[in-house]
This record gives sequence, C-alpha cells and structure tokens, in this order.
Amino acid sequence: MDYKKDFPIFKQRPELVYLDNAATSQKPQAVLDSEKNYYERLNSNVHRGAHFLAEEATIAYEGTRQAVADFIGAGKTNEIVFTRNATEGINLVARSYGDEFLNEGDEVLLSKMEHHSNIVPWLQLKERKGIVVKYLDIDDDGQFVFDGSQITSKTKFVSLTGMSNILGSIPNLKPIIEAAHEKGAKVLIDACQLAVHSPIDVQELDVDFLVLSAHKIYGPTGVGVLYGKEELLKQMPPFMGGGEMIQEVFEDHFSPAEIPHKFEAGTPNIAGVVVMKAAIDYISKIGFDQIQKEEHELTEYALEKLKSLPYLSLVGPKTSKNRGSVISFTIKGVHPHDIAEGLSQSNICIRSGQHCGQILMDYCDLSATARISLAFYNTKSDVDKTVKALEEIYQYFN
Ligand SMILES: Cc1ncc(COP(=O)(O)O)c(C=O)c1O
Repeated sequence: MDYKKDFPIFKQRPELVYLDNAATSQKPQAVLDSEKNYYERLNSNVHRGAHFLAEEATIAYEGTRQAVADFIGAGKTNEIVFTRNATEGINLVARSYGDEFLNEGDEVLLSKMEHHSNIVPWLQLKERKGIVVKYLDIDDDGQFVFDGSQITSKTKFVSLTGMSNILGSIPNLKPIIEAAHEKGAKVLIDACQLAVHSPIDVQELDVDFLVLSAHKIYGPTGVGVLYGKEELLKQMPPFMGGGEMIQEVFEDHFSPAEIPHKFEAGTPNIAGVVVMKAAIDYISKIGFDQIQKEEHELTEYALEKLKSLPYLSLVGPKTSKNRGSVISFTIKGVHPHDIAEGLSQSNICIRSGQHCGQILMDYCDLSATARISLAFYNTKSDVDKTVKALEEIYQYFN
C-alpha cells in the first residue's frame, strides 16, 4: 500500500525521506482538512457561549474527548483531560497529585530510559517536597530490570515509559503495575511513543494515569492528553487557575469545576483538540493490525540492513521482538550529528543527540546516538536510501 499518498508533504516534497517520526509525525490530508474545516465553519470559543456556533464548537471539542476515551479504552469521558502535550500532563500529575499526596521521604520510581519530560517534573517535586527519586535499570533488550524488590512500602508513585524514544523497546509493564498497586502506589504511563504503534487499553493495563501527545499520532501540535482514574482526578487540586476551571469565584475564595474542566484552565487549543479526532479516525480506519504489520516488517528490514554495516553499532534491542520502530545507532569515527547532517544532504531526516535522555546516555556510556524512527508510511526504499547514504558518510569520515 502507498500510504504516503495520504500525506500531502510527500507530494509537495517528493524527495523527502522522513525518518524522524518519533520527534513528530507527518499529518494526513484528513487532519489538514479538519483544521481548515474548523476555522472555516466552526470557530468559536467552547463551553461559555449560548449561541449556536459556540454550541457546535463545544460538541466538536467534546466529541474528541469521547474519541480519545475510546482510543485508549477509558470508561468515562471525564477521565480525559486535554493539555498542551504529554509533558504538561506529567507536570500536572507531579504538581497536583504529587504536592497533595506525596511527602518527604516518599519514593517515586522511574527508569533510566525515561524522557526528560518524565524525570524533571519529579526532580522538581523532590526540590519542593523532599521525595526520593529512584530508577529502574535497563537490560540489553531495553527492558526494565525488575524483580519486585524495587517497589517497597516507601514507593508511593511509579512513572514509566510505555516505549523508549531512544531504544525503541516496549517494556513489560503489567508485573510492575501489579506490584505497585499491591503496595498502594499509583502508576503513570508515558505513552507518548507507544500510542502511535500499539493499541492501548488503560482499564486492562489498570494504570492510574497515562499521557500522550497528539502530534506524535498524526495529529496537530499543541494538544496532549492526560488520562486519570476518575476517583483520583476528583481528589486532586487544580493545576492552574483561571476561566473554565471554576464553579464560583468570590473575593477570598473559589470553588473548582467538576473534572475534567477543573484541569483545563483558560481557552484551550480548541482547533487542535477538534482536529485530533481526525487523526484518531485516520488511525482507526487503517487499524493497528495493519499499522503494526507494516512497521514490524519495516523494522525487521531496517535492522537487518543496518546490521550488515560492520562499522555500525545498534544501541538497544537487536531484534524486532518487543519493540517499536525506533532504532538508535552509532557509527565508528562519525559523530551522530555528522551522521544526521550528512543524511540531511540526501534529503533524509533523522534525529541525533541525547534525545532528551541524558540519564540513559550516561548509563550506556554514550554522548549521543543517531536515531531513525519509522512510521507505517515509510518504505523499504526509504531504508535503502538511508543505508546507502550511511555507507557514503562512513567512507567520507574514515
Ligand atoms: C517517551 C516520550 N515522553 C515524552 C515526550 C515529550 O513529548 P512532548 O514534547 O510532546 O510533550 C516525548 C517526546 O519525544 C517522548 O518521546
């Protein structure tokens, strides 16, 4: 199937080989159409107007909330909070749940392959409240090293990635979630990478919180989702104050709105939220079975091709088992930034650097990696062009 035809950027730029999907994905025509349609036909502020246009915009906005709930298997729409991105969702939980329920000496368990977005908010909480931040080690397959002993009665919160943005590995979360709940700890899953490669069922996983960003699932930038269990969101204080999040305001106090509006202060990214539904609909139309089939085949192909280069070292799992289509590597004698710049000269976009994962880089004793991240719309020809260009870059530098 030629999926690229659904994405106008590949028509505008036929030479483009886009292998930086983990940073942000390209947008299908349906998403672009939805954005245009919103501003041409629906534009109005939500929740506060009595006129028909405000009502229609509100229906569209809340329609996305239902679509997101269905997308991640949430039972209730009031468990879906719209944020700016996944980062804001984690900050919201660390600020609101963390400040309210965590105390000095309480432990928050992360892993050494978390994105900075799932580390810094907890380090900030450590500065505010004196909590202790601990980290799970990572094995050669990019799985968490976990035998149960890392979660104790001191552990109050566990916040882990559903898929590494550097290693591509998809860790086995279930035993950790169960162990955390046995000790009464709450669990947040950073599904920023996972959500575009795999169906998610928050009820089946039994997570307390989950975050994702719309721009990584073929949707617009500026919209994120925080899922939280209803009983937890209800207990948590608002993250930010302002319009939309209040019930009543008096000179010396206020009462917050019900969830999820309690956490959506100010005019939200209405267009972005509305358009996000088009992205979810697009994914659903193709189906995760098909997406996973395409990506699995491409990943296997890319891994084999990359392994055939003797001077290239893969960082992370060497096979396509328990992983998504993100592949990090280094090349002897060539800095990852030079790899990315060299590929860019052949119209190939990849990412190089620490990928917001300095702790993992230090753990692996690396200063940086080059990273290709494939989407189902990529092709074997994209991989072939990249491998050919890598060979030329190696020859140039060695
Ligand atoms: C695993 C992971 N978590 C969190 C983030 C942060 O996402 P955003 O910048 O959209 O908030 C990213 C972005 O690359 C990511 O890959």
